[in-house]
Amino acid sequence: MFSLRTATAEDAEALAELGRRTFFETFAKDNTQEDMARYLADTFSPALQRAELKDASVHFLLLLARGKLAGYAKLRPAAANARGQRPLEVCRFYVDRPWHGSGAAHALLEGALEHARANAHDDVWLAVWEHNVRAIRFYRKHGFTRVGEQPFQLGADVQTDWVLARPVTPEQSR
Ligand SMILES: CC(C)(COP(=O)(O)OP(=O)(O)OC[C@H]1O[C@@H](n2cnc3c(N)ncnc32)[C@H](O)[C@@H]1OP(=O)(O)O)[C@@H](O)C(=O)NCCC(=O)NCCS
Repeated sequence: MFSLRTATAEDAEALAELGRRTFFETFAKDNTQEDMARYLADTFSPALQRAELKDASVHFLLLLARGKLAGYAKLRPAAANARGQRPLEVCRFYVDRPWHGSGAAHALLEGALEHARANAHDDVWLAVWEHNVRAIRFYRKHGFTRVGEQPFQLGADVQTDWVLARPVTPEQSR
C-alpha cells in the first residue's frame, strides 16, 4: 500500500500544503493564533519549500499511500556528535492525519533509515516537542532514546524540544 520516492521541484506546493496543515493540526490547540500564524508563514510557503528542494544537502523523502502523498521526511547530514561520526538529522517527519496508526509512519521511518544506511550514516537524531506524546511514543518504539534537549522558537514562544537518537543499525543486530 505504501511506496517511497525522492521529492522533485514539482512537489514544492504539495509539500508546503501538507507541512503547513500537519503542523497546524498537531500544534494549533497548544499555541496562540499569533504564534502559529507567524511560524506557518515563516516555514511553509511554497517559495521556501522550493528553495529547500534546491538545497543539495537536504533530502526529502516522500511517502505515498495508494499513489498519493501521505507524508514526508526532511533529512540532512549533521555534525559529528558524541554518538556518531556521520549523524543524519531528521528535520521534519510528517504523516497526514488519515494515515496515523496505519503503519505509514513506520514505512517512512524505514525509508529514512535506508537512506541513512545507503549514505554511511551511523546515527539518526531528531528534535520533538516535549509534549508531543504521540510522536515520542512512536520514536521510542522504533528504538530512539532521549539524549538531550534544545530550545524551539514558535513565534514569540520559546519551547523545549527533546533530542532523541538511535544508531542507524540497532546494537543487537550488529
Ligand atoms: C508522529 C507521527 C509520524 C507518528 O505516526 P503514527 O502513525 O501516528 O504513529 P503510531 O500510531 O505508529 O504510533 C503512535 C503511538 O502513540 C500512541 N499514542 C497516540 N496518542 C497518544 C497519546 N495521546 N498519549 C500517548 N500515546 C499515544 C499510539 O497508541 C501509538 O502507540 P502504540 O503503537 O503502542 O499503540 C504522526 O503521528 C505524525 O505525523 N504526527 C503529526 C506531526 C508530528 O508530530 N511529527 C513529529 C514531529 S517530531
